[in-house]
Amino acid sequence: MNRQQYYSDLFRQLSVPSEEPLRQQYFIDKLRIFMFGLPPKYTIPVDSEELASAKPLVRRTACVSTFGCQMNARDSEKLSGILQEIGYEIIEDEKADFVLYNTCTVRENANMRVYGRLGVLNGYKKKNDQMLIALCGCMMQETQVVEKLKKSYRFVDLIFGTHNLYKFAELLSDRIDSGEMVIDIWKDTTQIVEDLPVDRKYPFKSGVNIMFGCNNFCSYCIVPYVRGRERSRRPMDIIREIENLVADGVVEVMLLGQNVNSYGKNLEEPMTFAQLLQEIEKIEGLERIRFMTSHPKDLSDELIEVMANSKKICRHMHLPLQSGSSRILKLMNRRYDQERYLSLVEKLRKAIPDIAITTDIIVGFPGETEEDFEQTMEVVRKARYDSAFTFIYSKRSGTPAAAMENQVPEEVTKARFDRLLALVQEISREQTARFTGQTVPVLVEDVNDHDASLMTGRMDTNLLVHFPGDASMIGKIVNVRLDECKGFYFLGTQV
Ligand code: SAH
Ligand code: SF4
Ligand code: F3S
Repeated sequence: MNRQQYYSDLFRQLSVPSEEPLRQQYFIDKLRIFMFGLPPKYTIPVDSEELASAKPLVRRTACVSTFGCQMNARDSEKLSGILQEIGYEIIEDEKADFVLYNTCTVRENANMRVYGRLGVLNGYKKKNDQMLIALCGCMMQETQVVEKLKKSYRFVDLIFGTHNLYKFAELLSDRIDSGEMVIDIWKDTTQIVEDLPVDRKYPFKSGVNIMFGCNNFCSYCIVPYVRGRERSRRPMDIIREIENLVADGVVEVMLLGQNVNSYGKNLEEPMTFAQLLQEIEKIEGLERIRFMTSHPKDLSDELIEVMANSKKICRHMHLPLQSGSSRILKLMNRRYDQERYLSLVEKLRKAIPDIAITTDIIVGFPGETEEDFEQTMEVVRKARYDSAFTFIYSKRSGTPAAAMENQVPEEVTKARFDRLLALVQEISREQTARFTGQTVPVLVEDVNDHDASLMTGRMDTNLLVHFPGDASMIGKIVNVRLDECKGFYFLGTQV
């Protein structure tokens, strides 16, 4: 009897567990055995050498394409980890046997890109009858999107949402067994499933979710509707994950949440974000801690103090402004005003010299007047951002702002956007230049894209530095002198 036959027979005697993550491990093994002829990893004991040396009987490739924010990027590492465990070979090319789009719907143009690219995928699928196409992520949480897919995109094989991505292996198994389109979207969840496989993009740095969802309902934003209510992971689960990452070579973590400053409020034993940071700081071998995003309304003095005293927390604060006009901020339901925002910036700069402050700004929110816009320009001049993401307001149906009167005409918004961008870039150049001549620790991330004799590293302020070196430095923190400011990055020399 061959090995596949042997494992298949044993596997058939098992019943499907109802507990997670055991249930997903069961489906991963099922696909390993029946689709790829690989030995099971979880359900049946297998000699470790056999497991390590096993090769899939068939070669199938998978490609995960990610749209949107760091949350989605982290989710994609989990989905890709599951595909890899099942036996797929992960590639970057969308001419693969399995293509998964992890979608974003925060602005309209993100949706349009997905529909456009689906057409291209359909072309590939016509030439490859093995090919499966799957869609997940925030866009799938919108009913009208799923309706449209069901009607006009019948070639899609699998659709799931943000709340049940941990069930990916099970849903894929359902699709293969049924041969039909599988759709599974949940409205919300309170569940957090730990210990799923992850395929990390970088060996030396990693995102770590500390919370999911959002409760803030900023009036323009769709995220609370597609990501559900705020849920914090337990501190012990977060710490354990980071300890494991560090044991695996990670030196920098990015703590992820839509509003990290409200971490811990709904835990059985409440804990503040600043307290969590102090616990994470104690992890030996971890060198750098980043986090995003901080909502100004919940940014505490405690957090500023912890940052100021920390050896590991990076001197960088991403603090989305959205608008500089207190009147617009109120309509946006942001729950801070211009004065409170600027006082936070001042406190941060005072407590943490050389801190880099970055932001997100929306132009053309309904009812925004020239005067409101000037207020935004004023805050940009005062806050002096190291960099800023600027967005044109996008109407998201279902959000309160979409129903507001006085939507700003496109040409007015576009003209304001250009003015804002010019100001932001001018200040960003000046802010960047202030580091010239300093010697700073830099995490070496990659060989430079354009010149292989240069390495690219990141300062704790998130700025990039290019300097002579070689690939053996990747993942290490080295001291680099910032010789020449090139606008938004530096050329330097290792010292
Ligand atoms: N939780 C984060 C933001 C997540 S969305 C926060 O509160 O800051 C990332 C950014 O997308 C937002 O900061 C906002 O600037 C932008 N954004 C969200 N909805 C938008 C919309 N409808 N139109 C344009 N930009 C939007
Ligand atoms: Fe959207 Fe506001 Fe939540 Fe950020 S805090 S995700 S902008 S609702
Ligand atoms: Fe987009 Fe969802 Fe992130 S809508 S910005 S991918 S939370």
